[in-house]
Amino acid sequence: MRIVSVVGARPQFVKLAPIAAACRQAGVGHRIVHTGQHYDANMSEVFFDELRIPTPDVNLGIGSGPHGRQTGQMLERLEQVLVDEAPDWVLAYGDTNSTIATALAAVKVHLPLAHLEAGLRSFNRRMPEEHNRVLTDHASDLLLAPSEVAVDNLAGEGLKERTVHVGDVMVDITSSVARSLAEDPAPLPGPVDDGPFVLATIHRAENTDDAARLRSIIEGLASLGVPVVLAAHPRLRARALDAGIALERPRLHVVDPLPYRTMIGAVAAAAAVVTDSGGLQKEAYVLGTPCATVRTETEWLETLVDGWNVLIPDPRDLDDGLVLRTVDADRGTPYGGGCAAEAAVAALRSRT
Ligand code: UD1
Repeated sequence: MRIVSVVGARPQFVKLAPIAAACRQAGVGHRIVHTGQHYDANMSEVFFDELRIPTPDVNLGIGSGPHGRQTGQMLERLEQVLVDEAPDWVLAYGDTNSTIATALAAVKVHLPLAHLEAGLRSFNRRMPEEHNRVLTDHASDLLLAPSEVAVDNLAGEGLKERTVHVGDVMVDITSSVARSLAEDPAPLPGPVDDGPFVLATIHRAENTDDAARLRSIIEGLASLGVPVVLAAHPRLRARALDAGIALERPRLHVVDPLPYRTMIGAVAAAAAVVTDSGGLQKEAYVLGTPCATVRTETEWLETLVDGWNVLIPDPRDLDDGLVLRTVDADRGTPYGGGCAAEAAVAALRSRT
């Protein structure tokens, strides 16, 4: 059997790592196509190096651009690549523009399509990720769901027959990196070596592209009672500059996007996480660090149970009371026990 994984953005590289390892272990042929959506070394290459992911077999080098152009260019290039590769399965990951381009390309050339991390819903159609995931799910022949909530969402849309609950590959990679850090710790980012700190990331358009909202988030982070390390996505830096918002403040330390081991070490060591990332909400949950999510909704409902994660729809509410709370409830394993990649590869194999 041969699988072609198509990835392009940072969260997809993280999910690719355990899939590539599971393919290797199962003796399954695996080729990797990188669309080039993320291209900075610290948004792409560092993940391949650190997580020992094989170098992509094909890199389309598409880069940034308006959504339509970016997605269209990927679709155009992917069509020929997939025809040439002719795999048994095309595997699409998550919910980015690279995901929807993969789905469209695969169905147009009549190749079987599987979607990893299927069934997530924010029910917010203004998010590009929501269209990407809904459309990809409906185009797919096999839906690899990370949780019961995702399975139920797919059943509600008439997609139950194509769904397999495999668990979440993010648990696989987060747990294995956390184990490796116990033996070989990564240095903490920013000036936070002694004492509690908050780890923050903000990158979503709804937070970065509205200047008043972005200012309010930065002021909220700067007003917290402990130092904050803000790992800044390039979009955040660019929009803050455009809007004349200073990111560096006395207790707010801005650093570049973090390599994965450094990020996981920092999440585990932080008193709390403040983010709008989907992946980070779950990494915080798996590692037992309270999280505050600066969004109106989340796809990861399980993290909200017992207050491990709280939503902060209005950034004016970002304060010590909400962010630096303690939580000690049992978390359970709603995302599985760390064998999701193996289960996903087995599901693909049994349907070849
Ligand atoms: C994309 C995904 C989002 C995911 C995020 C993780 C879509 C619609 N969104 O958002 O779901 O959470 O990746 O980071 O696909 N840029 C660089 N260097 C890079 C990549 C991007 O400077 O290597 C800058 C460019 O100015 C670019 C902007 O970041 O225009 C946005 O990048 P893009 O890939 O369009 O979307 P993300 O915001 O990263």
